[in-house]
Amino acid sequence: MSNSFPFRYTVAAMTNQTYISAESAKKFSDNILSWYHKQGRKHLPWQQNKTPYRVWISEIMLQQTQVATVIPYYQRFMESFPDVVSLAKASEDEVLHHWTGLGYYARARNLHKAAKTIAEQYSGEFPTDIEQVSALPGIGRSTAGAILSLSLKKHHPILDGNVKRVLARCYLVEGHNAQAKYEKALWPITETLTPENGVEFFNQAMMDIGATVCTRSKPKCEECPVNESCLANATNEQANYPQKKPKKQIPEKSTVMVIPMHNGKVLMEKRPPSGIWGGLWCFYEVEKAQDIEALLKKMNLIASSQTELAEFRHTFSHFHLDITPIVVECEHLTSAVNDGGTQKWLSLTSPDNVGLAASTVKILQEMTETHF
Ligand code: ADE
Repeated sequence: MSNSFPFRYTVAAMTNQTYISAESAKKFSDNILSWYHKQGRKHLPWQQNKTPYRVWISEIMLQQTQVATVIPYYQRFMESFPDVVSLAKASEDEVLHHWTGLGYYARARNLHKAAKTIAEQYSGEFPTDIEQVSALPGIGRSTAGAILSLSLKKHHPILDGNVKRVLARCYLVEGHNAQAKYEKALWPITETLTPENGVEFFNQAMMDIGATVCTRSKPKCEECPVNESCLANATNEQANYPQKKPKKQIPEKSTVMVIPMHNGKVLMEKRPPSGIWGGLWCFYEVEKAQDIEALLKKMNLIASSQTELAEFRHTFSHFHLDITPIVVECEHLTSAVNDGGTQKWLSLTSPDNVGLAASTVKILQEMTETHF
């Protein structure tokens, strides 16, 4: 492929409303690239010793999670699972343990599944073909593009949430994240703008600009390298792009978490693989406090006392959950508990290397602080 402008840009995007000439695409990418060389982030852990595996883990952790939160998780993950094969060989509990506190646990389950696929189907070598990468669990077109461009400089465009916002403002693209037409209008734009040379810097810069300059509220347009061509900036319409998704009221649910306790240990169960907290170790749940007795009976546990802890709310993307934790001190244990299978007595202060949901960690902390 020739590198001489303008022939590199063989196709300009023609969408419903957007026409981008080869000249303006070149100007856009040149401005982004100079910004990157001056101000882009270059020292993050996943930007050192770049391999598709290392970039993959970072991209998955960075979905819905800020860079500062991700760094220590990423470092611990890499120490335990330095390559695809070590991840494929790990137990699900170990992988979820490294995810405790990051949320959106399906990301970790998919990472584990994908690592097994790579170990089995690709002899442990991360595939480098975009179609093969996008077919792995948990990897969509944009993440596949990010992995291959950032680690191997392959010419693939990206379109994550931050990049969508930058482009929607620059070209006044109508719609919001939940609408297919919005994404459909944006792909040809990112395809047209992504340069052949320096794709790894361009893609990183676009994500960085979206995260730090072209922010959802109060964008810092004076710091933006493409402010001169940005249509939202020209018309002062930054706040209207992307459009706001109409807010849906989410339902409120409640649950009682039962925490059988004996000799400094608490009884937990492993959730089934799919659904809320899938694969994580959680406390037993009943609908109301009166149901505890029947639950204990089923497990052959005899309670000596019961203590209710403060109720708290955990909000998921699609509902609020009001949780009342009740600690049940137990007199003695019986063979009814299949310790090591889907039930386990875990130490209150140092639970095994298993995955715990944020609300479980919160209850364990509260119990430790109140000297259970
Ligand atoms: N969000 C998703 N991927 C990212 C990356 N590579 N750098 C910064 N933020 C990101």
